[in-house]
Amino acid sequence: MSEDTARLELPNGPYDVDLLESTVGLPGLDIRKLRAESRVITFDPGFANTAIAKSSITYVDGAAGELRHRGYSIEEIAKNSSFLELAYLLLYGALPNAVELSEWENDISHHMMLNEEMRSFFDAFPRRAHPMAVLSSATNAISTFYDVYRRPTRKKEIDAGARTLIAKLPTIAAWAYKKSIGEPYMYPNDEYSYVESFLHMMFSRPTQEKRIDPAIVKALNVLLILHADHEMNCSTATVRSVGSSRANMFTSVAAGMGALWGPLHGGANQAVIEMLQAIHDDPDATIASTLERAKDKNDEFRLMGFGHRVYTNYDPRAKILASYAEDVLAATAGSDPLLDIARDLEAAALEDDYFVERKLFPNVDFYSGVIFRALGFPQRMFTVLFTIGRLPGWIAHWMEMNTDPDTRIMRPRQIYIGEPARAYVPLDQR
Ligand code: SDX
Repeated sequence: MSEDTARLELPNGPYDVDLLESTVGLPGLDIRKLRAESRVITFDPGFANTAIAKSSITYVDGAAGELRHRGYSIEEIAKNSSFLELAYLLLYGALPNAVELSEWENDISHHMMLNEEMRSFFDAFPRRAHPMAVLSSATNAISTFYDVYRRPTRKKEIDAGARTLIAKLPTIAAWAYKKSIGEPYMYPNDEYSYVESFLHMMFSRPTQEKRIDPAIVKALNVLLILHADHEMNCSTATVRSVGSSRANMFTSVAAGMGALWGPLHGGANQAVIEMLQAIHDDPDATIASTLERAKDKNDEFRLMGFGHRVYTNYDPRAKILASYAEDVLAATAGSDPLLDIARDLEAAALEDDYFVERKLFPNVDFYSGVIFRALGFPQRMFTVLFTIGRLPGWIAHWMEMNTDPDTRIMRPRQIYIGEPARAYVPLDQR
C-alpha cells in the first residue's frame, strides 16, 4: 500500500482508497468508487466529515481560528480592502489592478436600479413580510427580465449575471425595507459608491436626503467583507446543490438565501439580538441563568452566536467585530446595553466547562447584530445584510462548480431503516 492510499478493512475484505492531497488542511479519502467496488456506503449527516468538492476560493483553519480568501487573510482584507474589491477577488481569483477595480466598481454602482416593473412585485407583499422572503422571491423575479442569464453558457453572460445580482441585491433589500415601513422606494444614485447608494436607499426619503457618514460607509464595508464567503457552509452548499442540476445562477442563489435565513445559520444574527434583548428586559434573567438554559438538554434554547461546525477556536471574524463594536458605537449611538450583556455572556461562557470542553466560541453572528443596530438597521434586516455580504461568495462557488470537471448532480445516498418489502393489504382486511 503506497503512502497516498488508505486501506479500509471491510467485512468482505480490504479495500484501498486513494488519498487526495490539499494545498493546506486535511487530505481526503477519494471514495467515488467505494459503493460500486465494495458494496458499502458512508454515513455522514450534515457532511461534517465529507468534502463535496475541491475548491480554491476560501480556506478556514478551524483549530487555529484562521480564514483566508484566495490566500489573503481576513484580517488584511478587512483592514485594506473594500467589499467590491473582495467580491472581484472571490469571483476571479486575483486582486484587481486600479483600472480593473474602477471599471468593476462603476459597472456595478451604475447598474443598481431595478426594472420599474418590479414596483408591482414589491407592492404585492404584505408590509409585515420578512425581508428575507422578499429577497429570495425578488432574486428569482429579476432573472425574468434577463432571459440571457437564465441559461448562461458563455463566460460573458455569466460575468454579466454576476454583476447584475451584486448590483441589484442592495436595491431589492432597501425596497423590501421601505415597503415594510410604508415609505416610498428610493433610487440608487450614480454619484454614490455601492455602499453609499445602499445607505441612501435605506435611510433617505424623498423629502430628506440622508447625510452619508464616511465612518458608517467604512463600517458597512468591513461588515460585508466579514460575511463574504466561508467555504462549504450550509447556504453555499445549497447554492452548489441547486446549481449542480444546471439550474441558473439567480435561482441557485435564491435557494441559498432560504438556507441562510435559518436561525442556526445566518438567521442567528437576528436571534442573538433577540436573546440579548430578552435578557435585558427580563428582570429575572441573569448571565448564569442564560448559560444554564443553554446547557440544559431539555431546553431547546441555545446560546445564539456561539459555536461553529468548523471553528474550535475563536472565529476570527468575531474577533474583528468584537473590537470594531466599540469604534462603531463611539461614532454612532455612543453605547448599547446589549453590547455590555454580550461581553458578560462571552466572558462567562469562555470560563464555563460546558463551553470550554465543547470548544464553543463566539462566531461571526455574536457581535454583528450589535453593530448593525448601531448603524441604524432594524433587526429584521440583519440577515439581509448577511445575504448582501455572502452573495459574491455564493456566485464564486456557483462559477467554480460550473467549471469543475469533477462536478456531478448532487444526489446523496441513505441508509434505509424502514419496512422490508411487504404485500398491500386490502381496506376490508386492515
Ligand atoms: C454561521 O458553517 C459556516 O461557516 C457558517 C457561518 C458562515 O459564515 O457561513 O460561519 C455562519 O452560520 C455561524 C453559526 C450561527 N449559528 C448560531 O450561532 C446558532 C447557535 N450555534 C449552534 O446551533 C451550533 O453551534 C452550530 C449550528 C453553529 C453548529 O452545530 P454543530 O456543528 O452541528 O454542533 P452540534 O449541534 O452537534 O453541537 C455539538 C455540542 C452539542 O452538545 P453535546 O450533544 O455534545 O452535549 O455542542 C453543543 C451541542 O448541544 N452546542 C451548543 C451550542 N452550539 C453547540 N450548546 C449551547 N449553545 C450553543 N450555541
